[in-house]
Amino acid sequence: MKSDDVKKIAIIGSGAMGHGIAQVCASAGYGVVMKDIKQEFLDSAMAKVRESLEMLVSKGKLSADDLDVIMSKRLVTTLSTEEAVKDAQIVIEAVPEVMELKKKVFAELSELADAGAILATNTSTMSVSEIGRVVKNPARFAGMHFFNPVNRMKLVEVIYGESTSSDTVDLICEVSVKCDKLPVKVLKDRPGFIVNRINAPNQALLSAILDEGKVKPEQVDMKMKKLGVKMAPFETADFVGLDVFCHTLAYYESTLSPQYRPGKFLEDKIKRNELGMKTGQGIYKWVDGKAQIADLGDTDAITPVHFMAVQVNEAVKVMKEGVASSAKDVDDGVKFGMNAFAGPFALAAGMQPQQLADALNYVAQRFGLEMLKPEPEIVDGSYKNMK
Ligand SMILES: NC(=O)c1ccc[n+]([C@@H]2O[C@H](COP(=O)([O-])OP(=O)(O)OC[C@H]3O[C@@H](n4cnc5c(N)ncnc54)[C@H](O)[C@@H]3O)[C@@H](O)[C@H]2O)c1
Repeated sequence: MKSDDVKKIAIIGSGAMGHGIAQVCASAGYGVVMKDIKQEFLDSAMAKVRESLEMLVSKGKLSADDLDVIMSKRLVTTLSTEEAVKDAQIVIEAVPEVMELKKKVFAELSELADAGAILATNTSTMSVSEIGRVVKNPARFAGMHFFNPVNRMKLVEVIYGESTSSDTVDLICEVSVKCDKLPVKVLKDRPGFIVNRINAPNQALLSAILDEGKVKPEQVDMKMKKLGVKMAPFETADFVGLDVFCHTLAYYESTLSPQYRPGKFLEDKIKRNELGMKTGQGIYKWVDGKAQIADLGDTDAITPVHFMAVQVNEAVKVMKEGVASSAKDVDDGVKFGMNAFAGPFALAAGMQPQQLADALNYVAQRFGLEMLKPEPEIVDGSYKNMK
């Protein structure tokens, strides 16, 4: 199949991600069918797509006629899987992050979809290979990881499962480009893929800082904010929810290293139901959607250089493990998947290797996190040659 042959895309699950994926696919000109388990979920998804498109019309980025075409002709909904996948060349799954559910959904999709259709999962934390084992043709199965909110985040990670063919990945990349996204290939199905993986050790570091209790989150966050970072690291943890944050750490604990184990500070917060923005109290108190961050003065103990060094070190590991095909892909992934100013390799290009190595040795020792020790390529500076 060629990308020009793709006319219809089915989206299974119309929640936070599904409706966004439906919107970008329909806006790119594809016929799109969204499937969910209740009519009210589909109605809500359609209302959200309409609202988002109306916003574009109000900004002059979309014509009212185009909105009409998308909502009345290109995008439809159904409660029937059979109807959703009929004649679809691509089926994208965005149901909740539960392995057994995903396997059940794909077993059914594999039965009902056209034999030549490509099946893709939007999982953010699960093994693409494992999900793909239930489908009849795993060569035509891949990960297609969009970022939230889909209509605004440019990146799509396109992930090879153990049996995915290059044709499948290439076609998904071409369709992603048509949907105005930037696809980055993930060559190995490893936890966190590229973007979330590069962020992972800093999450462990934040948990360790909280447990040690000497450096205050306010000091770290204020320093970041003074440098122009819109949402500082502890503030972000509160924003996504400390339960989600802990769940992510526990996932990496079981898949990457025991050192990711969520710390006591976070566990206590969860026991007290202080989950961050959504409960009004987390690391910070939240008022009217804003974290109340007191200015406790600066700290030199933990600086942005430490977080950056941790990111670069993990980026080196991602390259060495063959997860990303180029340093540019890593940088694009971080830039467009995390809305970062620049990717780790670009940031580290002008730095002294010794400065990075010192920063890594310092946090590794201070917080007892061996996994933060510098890779040999950081110490000898050869990370700069990674292309
Ligand atoms: N929310 C995020 O920030 C984010 C980012 C990237 C990837 N993801 C991944 O995207 C997937 C979906 O996440 P979400 O946040 O959109 O979840 P969500 O809970 O908002 O939506 C899931 C939808 O799937 C529906 N559903 C459940 N069973 C179904 C079935 N058998 N058939 C059809 N629909 C069914 C639910 O009714 C719900 O509407 C997950 O794998 C998640 O890990 C989420």
